[in-house]
Amino acid sequence: MCGIVGYIGSRNVKEVVVGGLRKLEYRGYDSAGIATLEDGKLKVIKSVGRLVNLEDKLVTESLDGHLGIGHTRWATHGRPSDDNAHPHQDCSGRFAIVHNGIVENYLQLREELEAAGHTFRSETDTEVVAHLIEEVYNGDLFQTMIAVGERIHGAYALVVLAKDHPDTIFAMRKSSPLIVGLGQEENFIASDIPAILEYTRNVYVLDDGEMAVVRKDRVDCFTLDGIPVLKDVYQVTWDAVAAERGGYDHFMLKEIHEQPKAIRDTLTGRISEDLSRVVLPDLTLSDDKIRAIDRIHIVACGTSWHAGLVGKVVLEKYARIPVDVEIASEYRYRDAVRTDNTLIVVISQSGETADTLAALRECKARGLHVLAITNVVGSSAAREANDVLVTWAGPEIAVASTKAYTTQLIALYLLAVHLGQIRAELTLAQARDVLVALDSLPQLAEQVVDTAPHMEQFAKEWVHAEHTFFIGRGLDYSVALEGALKLKEISYIHAEAYAAGELKHGTLALITEGVPVIALATQPSLYEKTVSNIKEVKARGAFVLGLTWVGNEDLAKSVDAVIYLPLTAPDVAPILHVIPLQLLAYYAAVSRGNDVDKPRNLAKSVTVE
Ligand code: F6R
Repeated sequence: MCGIVGYIGSRNVKEVVVGGLRKLEYRGYDSAGIATLEDGKLKVIKSVGRLVNLEDKLVTESLDGHLGIGHTRWATHGRPSDDNAHPHQDCSGRFAIVHNGIVENYLQLREELEAAGHTFRSETDTEVVAHLIEEVYNGDLFQTMIAVGERIHGAYALVVLAKDHPDTIFAMRKSSPLIVGLGQEENFIASDIPAILEYTRNVYVLDDGEMAVVRKDRVDCFTLDGIPVLKDVYQVTWDAVAAERGGYDHFMLKEIHEQPKAIRDTLTGRISEDLSRVVLPDLTLSDDKIRAIDRIHIVACGTSWHAGLVGKVVLEKYARIPVDVEIASEYRYRDAVRTDNTLIVVISQSGETADTLAALRECKARGLHVLAITNVVGSSAAREANDVLVTWAGPEIAVASTKAYTTQLIALYLLAVHLGQIRAELTLAQARDVLVALDSLPQLAEQVVDTAPHMEQFAKEWVHAEHTFFIGRGLDYSVALEGALKLKEISYIHAEAYAAGELKHGTLALITEGVPVIALATQPSLYEKTVSNIKEVKARGAFVLGLTWVGNEDLAKSVDAVIYLPLTAPDVAPILHVIPLQLLAYYAAVSRGNDVDKPRNLAKSVTVE
């Protein structure tokens, strides 16, 4: 959840570390800090609040050393404060450490260390690691870190500076991401690639249970028990500007506008030229195994879970396999019924969400086949799953997920058609209908993005709304859930999504004069039923904004305003219809003066439970 940066080399350490942290602020941003080693002294400066507060403090600090580590924090143990900000130190000030993750046995360790005479300055779990290093240290930091790794339970990406080792940064990971950027006479450490992309495209992605000893001119990797590991260099192909705002006011708006390209990129090379077959050459699942699948469990969190809900509908329809869509934090703790032929599909933009990864690992440990749909090639999910379907959305920086969601849907549709074809549940003609519709989406998505001025107008009108409702049936209901989540998380307007037919079982009581209701009516087969439900809310005074396909003039008779979207096959309509809902949330957040890209209390990548 937190962001980590480390640097060793001859550049200005303050600039490299703070610049890297700026790129990682999306991982958490309630406090930040930096430690450098200069003239045999560890200098630690930290500040509660946004990174800019730390930058203000640093203005008068020279920080001339050639190695340093930095951290942006998203609080887990201990409220945001200067004391709780990282880096943390031991009693003697010989070590400085930054940490991402949770030390689960920190209370027990803290008691032991306090009994041994250590004095703590913060409420964090991380500080115990600094004291533990001090306690174990016998002059050999490498052996010390192996011993410390054995004592701490939980998840960690740890980076350590030590006064006695002015030429080395020490990094280790278990369950929290960490990469090493490789330069010429300089090296970098970070929780995520954008932090170092300005300087290098060559990285080592540390695997779970690995550590790295990083010097200016070499990087040595080991397992956590000290066995040397030879790493492959991963070459980052996307460029630094792709991770910048590119002229938009916010990353979220940029990412909404990138959806046509992201959809196109995710489709590229995965549909045969005659648009009749899905091509997934990297999939290791054999045709026999696909025919044997007796159920699918889709496991994910948040927006990725919403994508899974759409996935269920299409997988059941095209492949005729029963599908359950599970919230990862629930799934991992219940003994779900699975057979040897259950396929597990985990969906995670970041590929680092703790609960999703825990579910993935539990399923793998049971010998089940896990397919990950993720946007991050080197992520833990991508590396640990048996099969990976990458969504080529490019880096998603805004906390609110947009292009990751639409490309997750693309991946799920491709998977559904693929399984349907192999299981002979879809004819060539049926598959072609879906694939032709998918193929036309990038162009249609361009048109949908043009609804921005209308959505901006509604957002301004509803700027003072306290409650809103999103309704729809079938696939529209799944999209309504995602629309409501988007509005809540960045505008802070309360929003609820309801299956349109379910309103009258209770929620209708909340519909009063002028309450905004966004009604999705994109499915011709359910259209009349949805209109009946729209009439129910209209009769109670709601202001209804309807979304439907262009040419359906009928809806205007039942609602207050209509947004017409390009005509497409109803099955793929969700991929287009979510876009105006993303725009509505975006403009509502802007109108309310909110920090769109970094909404309060949220972080981009939830790498703790
Ligand atoms: C909401 C949002 C979150 C994420 C969720 C899972 O806009 O982005 O709900 O979808 O935290 O994250 P990933 O997909 O990275 O596992």
